[in-house]
Amino acid sequence: MIYAANFKTNHTRASVGKYLQHLDSFLQFQNDTLECYVFPPLTALDSFYNKRVKVGVQNAYPVHNGSVTGEVGLEQLNEYNIKSIIIGHSERRQILSESQELIAKKYEFFKQNGFEIVYCIGEPLEVRENEDLKEYLSSQLEGIDLNYDKLIVAYEPVWAIGTGVSADIQTIESTHQMIKKMIQNKPLLYGGSVKPQSVKEITDIKSVDGVLVGSASLKVESFQEIMTNSLG
Ligand code: PGA
Repeated sequence: MIYAANFKTNHTRASVGKYLQHLDSFLQFQNDTLECYVFPPLTALDSFYNKRVKVGVQNAYPVHNGSVTGEVGLEQLNEYNIKSIIIGHSERRQILSESQELIAKKYEFFKQNGFEIVYCIGEPLEVRENEDLKEYLSSQLEGIDLNYDKLIVAYEPVWAIGTGVSADIQTIESTHQMIKKMIQNKPLLYGGSVKPQSVKEITDIKSVDGVLVGSASLKVESFQEIMTNSLG
């Protein structure tokens, strides 16, 4: 089972250092089948020496280095041995107007560089209510090589992100079954208001291989509770 924490624009370098230490000690007593990722803000990157937690980035630009003001490229990530990245998160698609073309370019670049990619897809409410869901989700997979062996897909319905209410079990189950067929059975995470109280019934669904957690991952105790409740 995969557990990924997306801190978004929260935490500092100091608090991330403490968080990871805490989390790593917790993980030492967990089964090897548990995989754990943390995606802190870029300013918190450091030379972390964690044994079990994989630290990744929420975004980067598809260049080695160069002139892209305000962005970081591969050279900066290599300095901290970062090997995992989130691509296609709905907040970047919507708030930052990232196009599918740019998203696919990022995907290709970080794939060429051997990164583990957590690739996000998910529909807004008006699409679920009025449009062809399969077609919409397929368009978010355009230009994405689904054969890549380090691909993890995350299904995050936009209407469930940060709302405190996750999608219901039937919705997650049926949508995951549909997506699994589209992504050649790659690992598929669910994201959108996952909490310690709701995680078990979500991860008990057969087509759910893990969770991508925002708000409920910000406190290390809460993220750990998500893992223990899910496994328990
Ligand atoms: P949330 O965020 O858990 O706060 O809904 C999930 C995400 O956006 O990855």
